[in-house]
Amino acid sequence: MTDSANLVVAIDGPAASGKGTLARRLAEILSLRYLDTGSLYRATGLSVLRAGGDLESEQDAAKAAETLDLSTFTAEDLRSEEAGVAASHVAFLPSVRAVLLGFQRSVAANPGGEFKGAILDGRDIGTVVCPDAATKIFVTATLEVRIKRRLQELKGRGEPVIEARVRDDMTARDQRDRDRSVSPLKPAEDAWELDTSDMNADEALAAALDRIRGTGPL
Ligand code: DC
Repeated sequence: MTDSANLVVAIDGPAASGKGTLARRLAEILSLRYLDTGSLYRATGLSVLRAGGDLESEQDAAKAAETLDLSTFTAEDLRSEEAGVAASHVAFLPSVRAVLLGFQRSVAANPGGEFKGAILDGRDIGTVVCPDAATKIFVTATLEVRIKRRLQELKGRGEPVIEARVRDDMTARDQRDRDRSVSPLKPAEDAWELDTSDMNADEALAAALDRIRGTGPL
């Protein structure tokens, strides 16, 4: 499935666990191509809305995934609340997941000549997308810590912050990610769990680097 000369690192975990920051920093240090797979679901959801489609329609959502053009979205578009909600709808749909699976695997197998491999973050990278990844990290943090991080992130972006709403959204999203029948959020059997509840971003990075260097070719 993946070129054996490539190092593939799979990072999974719930929202606001710190996996995105960790994956981005690891990619830079280890010269790996980074793919934020949540952004594919976010872009698919937004594409359905832009086309005037129905988020519950598997046909509309699969068409959006097949014709996805990431260059038409800004980082702000993709991080918006609207995108997050739209993503959590389309992420349920098996045909959307099937289309995006092909793209994710092709990035892992062919990250580009300037990279030593690829690092993908999401919910099902270690279990479904890259089951042969050299290193699999499942990043966790307590719900309280994740809520605090999300509140800080929203405040930093100058967005209105209502703690009860963030708590409800995070709890509902966790439940949807864990309970869905297709590709639910769960650690792969051979994943290493990294609990970042009592760590800052630098400490999480150091722990992950030790792990990857201990088990991988870098
Ligand atoms: O990590 P995120 O918040 O950007 O993810 C957005 C949504 O996409 C979230 O509802 C989970 C879903 N997702 C998924 O089902 N599988 C992935 N590999 C990545 C994200």
